[in-house]
Amino acid sequence: MELGIRRLLPMFVTLALFFVASGCEKADRSLPQDVGTVQNISLMQDKGVTSEVEKIKIGFSMDTLEEERWLRDRALFKSAVESLGAEVEILAANGDDALQVLQAETLISNGVDLLVIVPHNAEATATIVKKAHLAGIKVLSYDRLIKNAEIDLYVSFDNERVGELQAEAITKIVPKGKYVYIGGADTDNNAHLFKKGVFNVLQPLIDKGEITVVYDQWTKNWLPSNAYANMKEALIANGGKVDAVIAANDATAGMSIEALEEAGLAGSIPVAGQDAELSAAQRIVEGTQTMTVYKPIPTLAEEAARLAVAMAKGEFIDTDRKVNNGKVEVPSVLLPPIAVNRANIDETVIADGFHLKEDVYRNKRE
Ligand code: BGC
Repeated sequence: MELGIRRLLPMFVTLALFFVASGCEKADRSLPQDVGTVQNISLMQDKGVTSEVEKIKIGFSMDTLEEERWLRDRALFKSAVESLGAEVEILAANGDDALQVLQAETLISNGVDLLVIVPHNAEATATIVKKAHLAGIKVLSYDRLIKNAEIDLYVSFDNERVGELQAEAITKIVPKGKYVYIGGADTDNNAHLFKKGVFNVLQPLIDKGEITVVYDQWTKNWLPSNAYANMKEALIANGGKVDAVIAANDATAGMSIEALEEAGLAGSIPVAGQDAELSAAQRIVEGTQTMTVYKPIPTLAEEAARLAVAMAKGEFIDTDRKVNNGKVEVPSVLLPPIAVNRANIDETVIADGFHLKEDVYRNKRE
């Protein structure tokens, strides 16, 4: 069948040229999701010709550029898309739902062939998906899942595993005691997955009466200042007697450590974070943060760019994994996260070039 298609390709290209000349080159966008063999053939015509006629354009709608990681995602995604011969327009919404919807509409009206979205609010962004689909544009959910919408692909890390890695590391050090959980933003589906992973590990120990979770709150909008207030509250509520802290990311871990510092407890209570931010890597070698979870952003950005460009060209993407987002089983690619502590930081984030050794050890006194 494939050979047959290849033999027929020159004929399709001629035919497709005709369609492109008559302005029909993006006709495949409105195809239903169950793209069949015949439809695949017509998509291949499009693919062959579009690159000669116009560059594929990807729209990247981001929630925020606040954390160090998102700047990396933006730069790496851009260069990955460009190295595939496509172009990308990127807008970031500063954590504002209405602005993110507006920016996505702008990208749609600027003629992008495919939308990649990091949602600020898992539910509110569903409206963007509807609008994109009406315009015949497919949507890839990047790092965070959009809920209750017919998204076409989800590319992320195994976020439940992130939480498990955090809790596995901390319960090894503190198998019994009072735990504080500083959660992420309630509006981010990932925050729920991280928490689920943490409790997968803690629950059996809670049931045995060995661990008590004495504080468990979300951090509104992932704001480090809110995490700081939460940690302060946790310390006050427990008379400063807590034994371990699991924070949903490195920014919230950093501010929790600041609150611990003020109580004279930094370095004596294990703290987990996530993202392998430079400041967290430094705290790990300095001894105030116990571990972080490293998610190699280059792999995520490159994989998402490759799949986005392929989908924009009309290729049908199927995956082994599916994630239910409340509406559909979303084809998903979930990359493995890596636990990082003082013992393996050199062989992981530093060996990968994610951070330079001199930066990580900059403040470390021998
Ligand atoms: C991401 C984390 C990030 C957090 C705050 C989550 O959805 O997976 O890596 O730290 O958002 O931006």
